[in-house]
Amino acid sequence: MLQLVDVSLKYGRVLALKEVTLEFREGITVVLGANGSGKTTLLLTSAGLLRPTSGKVLLDGKDLFSLGRKVRKEFGLLFQNPRDQLIGQTVYEDVSLGPRQLGIDGVEEVMRRLGIWELRDRSPLQLSQGQASLVALAGVLSYNPNYVLLDEPSSSLDYRSLNLLVDVLAELKGRGKVVVVATQDTEFASWVADRVVLLDEGKVKGMGDPSLLEDPDLLVSVGVRPRCLDRR
Ligand SMILES: Nc1ncnc2c1ncn2[C@@H]1O[C@H](COP(=O)(O)OP(=O)(O)O)[C@@H](O)[C@H]1O
Ligand SMILES: [Mg+2]
Repeated sequence: MLQLVDVSLKYGRVLALKEVTLEFREGITVVLGANGSGKTTLLLTSAGLLRPTSGKVLLDGKDLFSLGRKVRKEFGLLFQNPRDQLIGQTVYEDVSLGPRQLGIDGVEEVMRRLGIWELRDRSPLQLSQGQASLVALAGVLSYNPNYVLLDEPSSSLDYRSLNLLVDVLAELKGRGKVVVVATQDTEFASWVADRVVLLDEGKVKGMGDPSLLEDPDLLVSVGVRPRCLDRR
């Protein structure tokens, strides 16, 4: 289990997270919030890539920052801009980097599952945004991390890939993974969420089961579009 206890994070003078206390358990937690609400900061902090200005991140009760580098393989983080994490010469090489370091197999299986096996010899620089997302996701899943954190994974996916992502998330859940998905897509959230965290200006504004997604006034108050908002 991954817990944040009273976590605040400042970038210089910008207070991006304000006394956030929550826990990420098995299954899928959706972090929903507007632009600038702190979703990316929350994910980077939870994965140990940013150190809280105050408060603690606990992995199974232990301070994440006392655990050293060995916990890195426990975390799989999909960056908001997937191109930031594509560094291989080819798509295949890119997805293989993690598994090779850890001496594990399964690259082809993950790539086929995400429908990108045909792209294996391409340069990661020659992908559409949606393809780049799937390749980066394959890189994240390829080494089988227990904590999977995805930053706006649905934002550039077509409908087919979106459905695939929903299926893959369900599989991760079935395998007991702790999955955290940051998004502002309420429809996607309603398809996958076991739990919802509403973030607004760095603060947790609501936390609970997916019925939170059915409260349009609450969503609008934090700048998130409710599902099926009538357009007039
Ligand atoms: N590297 C940074 N330096 C300074 N401010 C930042 C930096 N990254 C994010 N911020 C600010 O922190 C707040 C939260 O940003 P972010 O976590 O990216 O939100 P979200 O992912 O929900 O859009 C915003 O006000 C943003 O402008
Ligand atoms: Mg973000």
